[in-house]
Amino acid sequence: MVTLTINAKAQQLDVPDDMPLLWVLRDVAHLTGTKFGCGIAQCGACTVHVDGAPLRSCITPVSAVAGKSITTIEGLSPDASHPVQRAWAELDVVQCGYCQSGQIMSAAALLAKIPKPSDADIDQALSGNICRCGTYPRIRAAVKRAAELG
Ligand code: FES
Ligand code: FES
Repeated sequence: MVTLTINAKAQQLDVPDDMPLLWVLRDVAHLTGTKFGCGIAQCGACTVHVDGAPLRSCITPVSAVAGKSITTIEGLSPDASHPVQRAWAELDVVQCGYCQSGQIMSAAALLAKIPKPSDADIDQALSGNICRCGTYPRIRAAVKRAAELG
């Protein structure tokens, strides 16, 4: 049994200690907004926040985050009003969408830490989030727009 707070709701989940957090979120908590891409911490599709910091949920055993506060894309805001979500919609960032939960979670974590990030800050924070559709220019513009909105 593992106790987690997921999107501000404390939960006790009967899962193996070594189950990756990604599968706990998707298959047990039924929060499917967080995506599986590579499973080896190389693509960023599975990014969630743990106590506010971005983390690759595909390689994180659930026991490593016991007692911590997890935020998924579903919990970023109750009504898609987070500045990153508003900027993403305004600039029409998404193409196929597969990588975008992870991109948004990485961007939100960056802006929580650095409200007015430089290009270098954005590159560093999002370099681990791969987009096979090549939406990188719109992502960068949207991070800057979110900084204005925030
Ligand atoms: S699925 Fe976790 S980094 Fe790719
Ligand atoms: S929007 Fe398609 S992978 Fe990024």
